[in-house]
Amino acid sequence: MRLTVNGVEREFDADGRTLLVHAVRERAGLTGTHVGCLTGDCGACTVVLDGRTTKSCSVLALSADGGEVETVESLADGDALHPVQEAFWDEFAFQCGFCLPGMLLTAKELIESTPDPTDEQILAAINGNLCRCTGYNTIVAAVREAARRVREAG
Ligand code: FES
Ligand code: FES
Repeated sequence: MRLTVNGVEREFDADGRTLLVHAVRERAGLTGTHVGCLTGDCGACTVVLDGRTTKSCSVLALSADGGEVETVESLADGDALHPVQEAFWDEFAFQCGFCLPGMLLTAKELIESTPDPTDEQILAAINGNLCRCTGYNTIVAAVREAARRVREAG
């Protein structure tokens, strides 16, 4: 099968049971995408598939054949962090960091569609991304701050 992952076209073998999250981690070697529940509940495996955040544990790799995937590794530009990453860093918005890749991609998607989100909209957006450390106050503050930075950057 063929996938474009973070702009790089890759070909690899997958059988009918290979999950997209395993293809991303084990075939493409991008381990920023995490395996949590494997039941579609936690959001640790979130990637962007063909422009939409997607829980990659709930997608068979073969069904994404020919598609485009962006992972958390696509956010930074070399040493320059994405504004969403910077805001999470500055607001101390993660503890163990396990949920972080999914939170970042979900926050980025929200800010693209809703440049000035309310706290209620932020909470609704991250509804499918669980933080076991329950750092939600700082996560919401970070998404708010990230949105402000992206607006300011134009
Ligand atoms: S590992 Fe995919 S939602 Fe939890
Ligand atoms: S920071 Fe630990 S799960 Fe969210």
